[in-house]
Amino acid sequence: MNAKSIICFLAVMFAIFCGIMPAQAGANDFITPGKVWNDTDGNPINAHGGGILYHNGTYYWYGEYKKGETQDGRIDITGVSCYSSQDMMNWKYEGIVLPAVKDDVNHDLHPSKVLERPKVIYNSRTGKFVMWAHVESADYSKACAGVAVSDSPTGRFTYLGSFRPNDAMSRDQTVFVDDDGRAYQFASSENNATMYITELTDDYLRSTNRYTRNFIDKYREAPAVFKHNGKYYLITSGCTGWDPNQAEIAVADSIMGPWHTIGNPCTGPDADKTFYAQSTYVQQVAGKRDCYIAMFDRWNKNDLENSRYVWLPILFDNGKISIPWQEKWNFDCYTKNSGNRN
Ligand code: DGJ
Repeated sequence: MNAKSIICFLAVMFAIFCGIMPAQAGANDFITPGKVWNDTDGNPINAHGGGILYHNGTYYWYGEYKKGETQDGRIDITGVSCYSSQDMMNWKYEGIVLPAVKDDVNHDLHPSKVLERPKVIYNSRTGKFVMWAHVESADYSKACAGVAVSDSPTGRFTYLGSFRPNDAMSRDQTVFVDDDGRAYQFASSENNATMYITELTDDYLRSTNRYTRNFIDKYREAPAVFKHNGKYYLITSGCTGWDPNQAEIAVADSIMGPWHTIGNPCTGPDADKTFYAQSTYVQQVAGKRDCYIAMFDRWNKNDLENSRYVWLPILFDNGKISIPWQEKWNFDCYTKNSGNRN
């Protein structure tokens, strides 16, 4: 190192030390479940109950932007945030892509309401990005799905309104696009007793009248779906509000069911409490055949903004699926597990 580069190096270190430059930029080589996860600006990622869209080589993470005081188990709506990444470790904040509507107290997105579990899918027929979310009244009696649409993955999304698919309640929800381009909404319905799987219209903006009732009277919520080796898998939680409980995974040959529960996929300390977290989404690592990430939220029910993310690898071994606890991990762990082809 010559004198000039030593001065440069010291200046950068000084800037990081003083907080002028984000120390986090491009800095994450590992996922550390349950710990504060900073974006590339050095701020904690705020995208709860979220999901990921992989589009044209970029991952987009959408979630509930939870800001402010938690009172009686709810927090005012700020909106849906979006982060982008090339590697799913380092996330750039793209802003609030669906903001709260502050000037209309009757609007679904007024801060006094509840907005949860947003998921975005891309419709290759229409070229639109479509967001589905759980839209609620403050007392959780509305139980509707809300839909928004955008021409770009980073928004802004235009809110189209809310409804109950086939007149059935719709609370915890996710959406899934199958290989043939058909999309489906999974939602806890009938007061959370039964999970509905509803086929969406070709434009993904509404529900068709094709639906099935699954896990009848089993009270499952927090659905996260993925497809592996031609079979469909669904991770869910039980219904205990913001408190953790035991996860279950189910398998099906057809997306609309029948679904067969195959047990708790979580292993390791606190696996019976899903590591004090709750499922929200499963994302495949692009270009890697057997590499899937299970995404969970570790809710902080008294301070929802400070809830954390628990992301863990899904491992396959002779047809058995597990989600083992890891203090710290990266995608090398798939290579180390002989059941996961890369
Ligand atoms: C559990 C759900 O999974 C969350 O999304 C949220 O609706 C809480 N219940 C509210 O208690």
